[in-house]
Amino acid sequence: MKSHWSYADIPDLTSRTALVTGANSGLGYQTARGLAAAGARVLMACRSLERGEQAAADLRQQLPGAQLTLVELDLADLDSVKRCAETVHKECDRLDILVNNAGLSAFSRRETAQGFELIFGVNHLGHFALTGQLLPLLLDANAGRVVNVSSLAHRNVRLDFDDLHGSTGFDAYSRSKLANLLFTFELQQRLTRSSLSAISVAAHPGLSGTSLITMEKYSEESNRLMVRTTILIARLLLPVFGQSAEQGALPQLYAATAPGVSGGDYYGPAGRQEFRGFPRKVRARDHAYDEEAAARLWQVSAELTGESFSQLAS
Ligand SMILES: NC(=O)c1ccc[n+]([C@@H]2O[C@H](COP(=O)([O-])OP(=O)(O)OC[C@H]3O[C@@H](n4cnc5c(N)ncnc54)[C@H](OP(=O)(O)O)[C@@H]3O)[C@@H](O)[C@H]2O)c1
Repeated sequence: MKSHWSYADIPDLTSRTALVTGANSGLGYQTARGLAAAGARVLMACRSLERGEQAAADLRQQLPGAQLTLVELDLADLDSVKRCAETVHKECDRLDILVNNAGLSAFSRRETAQGFELIFGVNHLGHFALTGQLLPLLLDANAGRVVNVSSLAHRNVRLDFDDLHGSTGFDAYSRSKLANLLFTFELQQRLTRSSLSAISVAAHPGLSGTSLITMEKYSEESNRLMVRTTILIARLLLPVFGQSAEQGALPQLYAATAPGVSGGDYYGPAGRQEFRGFPRKVRARDHAYDEEAAARLWQVSAELTGESFSQLAS
């Protein structure tokens, strides 16, 4: 693969349709921009229609003629996931690219509408359900792609199947990012076993300057000393080790569009420690390829969300 792959290398996506979750901000915004600039119709799935409209207006200014459709999606509510999928089924006859990008961290414990721990519920379970409901459209495309956005944070954690909703804060975030990888590889196994041409891949952005890292969104929790210190450290480290959101979106754009990407691939920045740089194929920690954990996570996720992926062989 090209060593400095960037926006100019995104292939022509005319007549392709993509959906990006969390497209109003950070990496999702940059991903929507890259896909739309290459000619794709982009469905921007956002939890706030107001923030989504603002982002779409910004993109239209930069890219006159961009084909953008806003869809409401709150991954913290499976009813909203269902409504979003129904809208997409009405709007599109196929989906070429699904980028499961939205994500959050938090310091204090909160729950989704269905009572799941919020970070695991949004970052993994919401995307699991959305992918299952959009799979028929991805299968109608020629080699549809699912891209799950994970993180270096997956490296030092394991899932606790006896208490999947028990952790909070960065621990919960890290586990949810491990779940993103286990889901990616299990989905690919099932697509392969079902002899389907859609592929499932993962990407991570290293350390990229978005509100997730600068923790702007967590200011309501910032009265605690520990929280204020974490925010300060993140802001100090970013200019030294990190990169812009524009650069950070490249691995997921590569995974979503580049020719030669295979099911089960994982892409991240090529620089030292994978903190920054142009995209390259990377390897997750061994425990992210644990087939037993992946199969178990799939089963639990299917039970919790009621999503059966009926097109796939088990
Ligand atoms: N930045 C990094 O260095 C870094 C590193 C590793 C992995 N990542 C991953 O990159 C992805 C994108 O994050 P980012 O860095 O671009 O952060 P960001 O700027 O905070 O963007 C996160 C996006 O997710 C959306 N979101 C949050 N909760 C949601 C919900 N319940 N339903 C639907 N959407 C929701 C946010 O919507 P609102 O704007 O409405 O809150 C926002 O659009 C995440 O999966 C994150 O884990 C980022």
